[in-house]
Amino acid sequence: MISAARITGTGSYLPEKILTNKEMEQFLDTSDDWIYSRSGIRQRHIAAEGEFTCDLAEVAAREAIKSAGRRETDIDLIVVATTTADQVFPSTACLLQNRLGIHGCPAFDVQAVCAGFLYAMDVAYRYISTGASRCALVVGAETFSRILNWEDRSTCVLFGDGAGAVLVEAADTPGILSSHIHADGTYKDLLCVPVGVSTAYQQLLNGEAYTEMQGKEVFRWAVSALGDAVVEVLESNGIHQSEIDWLVPHQANIRIIKAIAKRLELSMDRVVVTIDQHGNTSAASVPLAFDVAVRDGRIKTGDKVIFEAFGGGFTWGSMLVQI
Ligand code: COA
Repeated sequence: MISAARITGTGSYLPEKILTNKEMEQFLDTSDDWIYSRSGIRQRHIAAEGEFTCDLAEVAAREAIKSAGRRETDIDLIVVATTTADQVFPSTACLLQNRLGIHGCPAFDVQAVCAGFLYAMDVAYRYISTGASRCALVVGAETFSRILNWEDRSTCVLFGDGAGAVLVEAADTPGILSSHIHADGTYKDLLCVPVGVSTAYQQLLNGEAYTEMQGKEVFRWAVSALGDAVVEVLESNGIHQSEIDWLVPHQANIRIIKAIAKRLELSMDRVVVTIDQHGNTSAASVPLAFDVAVRDGRIKTGDKVIFEAFGGGFTWGSMLVQI
């Protein structure tokens, strides 16, 4: 390893418009009680017409850069995790690079759905570790509302829009202690948008590219894979779960979050939970929750924090960070 990597800044953004469970009762056969008891969600934010993933990413990114005391021109790598890119190409990372007035550094998207931020962080960590980057901007941003069937109550109540960002910099001391990412395409049909540019371009043009999910099976898999992922991150660092200060989990379902906390024997007051406020924002969910807990002073310098996430693919991962 040439250099250690540290998170030096955080930022996040949620679109202005809030859609509550109560409001969803008006157009869907559902109830606030059903949604909240099954998922822990009370409301989600929805991007306005004409507001796109890169718009959300830009606000979060600028906040992260500012909180690190850096300037846009210090950045030498941009990785954006998103499932809902503004355009087929260029990548959202290139669009963001242009907005930020940065020229020449590598900029690309990674696509691992809800585990996307963990994948993007893994890339940044390895770029910095090998000396290929010294100041990386990592963003998770989604307008997931655009790939939901608003008549399908089993999926549309669970997701929302948002963005989170961090700056990762080369440092003398870590920082990021280890990163572990996984995928298993065997389960590609359990959580997916089954059409794309190559297979069904007309459906895309018609706005008929929707998220489909086998909820129960996804739930079972998420609990099992994330449980293994947190054990993996502990074992690879030779530390006991009692040494963990905070868990910042993917905000998909409060019952999944509680199951992982239980596996870690971590009391829920050491777990950052923001799902009630914005639902599942896919790649944005971990950096959003992390930013909230850093800004409100819960997560402090020196704390040991585990990130974990699970998504379509299946994809999943975990990371141990010392703040
Ligand atoms: N409002 C009211 N009822 C609903 C509903 C809604 N929004 N969505 C589904 N239902 C109904 C179902 O139709 C079903 O009715 P039925 O028994 O008459 O067929 C009933 O509620 C129970 O559905 P079920 O699927 O058994 O509920 P569940 O306890 O498994 O919870 C999820 C459903 C989706 C909340 C849960 O499976 C889950 O969270 N899965 C993981 C999802 C996830 O996190 N995905 C992202 C991973 S990145």
